[in-house]
Amino acid sequence: MNEEDRIVTPLNIVGDTENEYSLRPKRINEYIGQKKVKEKLKIFIEAAKKRKEALDHVLLYGPPGLGKTTLANIIATEMGGNLKVTSGPAIERAGDLAAILTSLNDYDVLFIDEIHRLSRNVEEILYPAMEDYALDIVIGKGAAAKSIRLDLPKFTLIGATTRVGLLTSPLRDRFGVMCPMEFYENDELKEIIVRSAQILGVKIEENAALEIGSRSRGTPRIANRLLKRVRDYSDVKGNGLVDLEVTKAALELLDVDEEGFDSIDNKILTAIIDNFKGGPVGLETLAYFIGEELDTIQDVYEPYLLQKGFIIRTPRGRVASDSAYKHLNRSKKCAKTVQQQSIFKDRT
Ligand SMILES: Nc1ncnc2c1ncn2[C@@H]1O[C@H](COP(=O)(O)OP(=O)(O)OP(=O)(O)O)[C@@H](O)[C@H]1O
Ligand SMILES: [Mg+2]
Repeated sequence: MNEEDRIVTPLNIVGDTENEYSLRPKRINEYIGQKKVKEKLKIFIEAAKKRKEALDHVLLYGPPGLGKTTLANIIATEMGGNLKVTSGPAIERAGDLAAILTSLNDYDVLFIDEIHRLSRNVEEILYPAMEDYALDIVIGKGAAAKSIRLDLPKFTLIGATTRVGLLTSPLRDRFGVMCPMEFYENDELKEIIVRSAQILGVKIEENAALEIGSRSRGTPRIANRLLKRVRDYSDVKGNGLVDLEVTKAALELLDVDEEGFDSIDNKILTAIIDNFKGGPVGLETLAYFIGEELDTIQDVYEPYLLQKGFIIRTPRGRVASDSAYKHLNRSKKCAKTVQQQSIFKDRT
């Protein structure tokens, strides 16, 4: 199955962009959840404004769909600066980044999405820019070459990444504010769904919002998508009111189970338990076995399965937990001992 065809993919797919602007919270107090990150940012934003300084550079990192782009927009609004948006792969040459940096004004925010994908020579331009608000330019060639330093405005860089481990340490060290994004709790997702329903003009009952929330894999992007699909179902099969009964029927039709798992999650768990005797199995082996890309498993499926404790990461590979056995109605007694298990070493 294509990732774009999965109803519970955390990635941005066709259809998500519809109403995206209106569904995005615009101010920090409207932003639901991520309590720790929000607290931290509120204090640093207020302090920077008091001192009339730019906010220190911010790194937002975590799985897709948790609200990194939304938060970058909010930070720019709260700081009263303009937001310039670009991404790692979009900046091909050092000169492209230099052009962007020189176009900024004091207190502007430069948002670089997928910052782990910046090329090394582009990244090197960022070091003095972040540290000293300076741009080093080399003029001339060979022995006659000289370097001149241009001042840049006092800007804030916000980097976002789903793969913080791929950032080089010189880049990571230049961010003053580190913001790890976490999966949302069910009641926070419920709140997001109730808010979105209000904006979209959907009538929804509290317990239905909680039901959608608890099947949204801790991810607001999925919550908003499921809400829209359940609304469609209710408009056609019901009377337009989204209640618990309609919600359960719609989600069953969409093949999203009580945990928010779809057939691929269940395929991963089934493979570990049935084909690799519960694990450990290397991620590469697992990806090959179920016919999915290694990166997709690592970035898209696995974070939630790990976070919910269905899969355990060990030095020798992934192991299915008791909850996974329970979820699939399997008994654990035929699992081998660790020593006998997979010969595949986990290289991820
Ligand atoms: N805290 C929140 N409160 C309410 N809605 C939210 C919140 N966070 C995210 N959303 C909703 O979820 C959607 C996805 O969020 P966003 O695009 O910011 O995620 P992202 O982390 O940037 O994803 P990606 O890693 O794919 O770039 C947004 O359109 C927004 O409507
Ligand atoms: Mg984003």
